[in-house]
Amino acid sequence: MKFSIFASILLSSGAFALPGTIPAASSASSPAPSGTGKVKFAGVNIAGFDFGCLTDGSQNISKAYPPVKALGGPDGAAQMQHFVKNDNMNIFRLPVGWQYLLNNNLGGTLDAGNFAKYDQLVQACLATGASCIVDVHNYARWNGQIIGQGSGPTNDQFVNLWTQLATKYKNSNNIIFGVMNEPHDVDINKWAATVQLVVTAIRGAGATTQIILLPGNNYTSAGTFISNGSGPALLNVTNPDGSTTNLVFDVHKYLDSDNSGTHAECTTDNISGAFQPLATWLRTNKRMALNSETGGGNVASCQQMLCTQIAFVNANSDVYLGYIGWAAGSFDSTYVLTETPTGSGSNMQDTSLVKSCLAR
Ligand SMILES: *[C@@H]1O[C@H](CO)[C@@H](O)[C@H](O)[C@H]1NC(C)=O
Ligand SMILES: *[C@@H]1O[C@H](CO)[C@@H](O)[C@H](O)[C@H]1NC(C)=O
Ligand SMILES: *[C@@H]1O[C@H](CO)[C@@H](O)[C@H](O)[C@H]1NC(C)=O
Ligand SMILES: *[C@@H]1O[C@H](CO)[C@@H](O)[C@H](O)[C@H]1NC(C)=O
Ligand SMILES: *[C@@H]1O[C@H](CO)[C@@H](O)[C@H](O)[C@H]1NC(C)=O
Repeated sequence: MKFSIFASILLSSGAFALPGTIPAASSASSPAPSGTGKVKFAGVNIAGFDFGCLTDGSQNISKAYPPVKALGGPDGAAQMQHFVKNDNMNIFRLPVGWQYLLNNNLGGTLDAGNFAKYDQLVQACLATGASCIVDVHNYARWNGQIIGQGSGPTNDQFVNLWTQLATKYKNSNNIIFGVMNEPHDVDINKWAATVQLVVTAIRGAGATTQIILLPGNNYTSAGTFISNGSGPALLNVTNPDGSTTNLVFDVHKYLDSDNSGTHAECTTDNISGAFQPLATWLRTNKRMALNSETGGGNVASCQQMLCTQIAFVNANSDVYLGYIGWAAGSFDSTYVLTETPTGSGSNMQDTSLVKSCLAR
């Protein structure tokens, strides 16, 4: 359902007026959905600063391709303005490589030049009034080694990164801290302890009210978030005051045959295998999750199945905070899951999947 632009401005100004305190999920004794039937957040990933990142946590930073027109890249700012104005979107996830932020200097300070470039995209996002996720896109690793689990990057080095980022953005209420993209093959209990250190550091840096996203194992797969132990371990992560206010689980789900997001065709809506059991678990534990990556090709099977998945997520808006498609930004029309609008400036047109499922 589309709202008129006037109604959407009214809704948006209400939704953006206050820092996002997450309402408590419905009580465990009433397992039925009790939400509004519409998730708070809908949006798209604006990728590019993460280009060159591999699942082993390395990044060739000369492959980063900023979706910032002033830097010679695609016009991410105009894309976000388009998505807000024409598709009623209100959240963008802005992936960036750890190596890019530090100019390859593990444990160092934010590289002034690179951070200023990334911040251009962040500020363009904030200027739309949307919420903006700072997403460190490193799979819980630096150059092949897991954070805090062996001889690779230490927890202190990762905490230091987040302390610096939180200090930069502590006064921006619409910033959301995406602790890490898609951890995999980690010891989940050690990983939860790392996440706890990061949460404590972000709050300690003065970012006391913003949402923090907590990612689990197996590429933070929604389908194995409970069975592979991620949810149970991350339930223990708290704010310094012992609460879990604004600590939201981060889950991903693709609809292709192997949940990899590398095939155009969709084979499942994964409601029964993933979003239904996760909703029940979230409700029981009075917590919420954000689906920060989902998507498929611009083909009929995905138009059907992604729309079905999003309808389910909307119907369970008491436990799901929103969904974010993968991806626009610096992807061009040759990318199998492209959500980059065509056209330019204020005259952009959506891909078929965005138009049919992700827009609202
Ligand atoms: C990094 O990427 C650049 C640009 O694609 C390429 O020229 C260079 O060889 C790459 N470096 C390594 C170490 O792979
Ligand atoms: C990881 O997720 C994939 C698909 O989502 C699933 O096939 C696989 O079994 C999962 N692995 C573990 C260890 O849970
Ligand atoms: C996704 O759905 C397919 C088909 O229903 C199922 O085989 C698969 O196990 C599901 N994956 C997850 C992670 O739930
Ligand atoms: C998660 O899956 C991995 C890979 O199969 C396995 O080594 C690990 O024991 C699992 N963890 C839990 C808690 O199930
Ligand atoms: C979570 O904390 C509780 C209480 O401190 C502890 O008993 C439990 O083992 C922890 N669970 C995980 C998965 O770390």
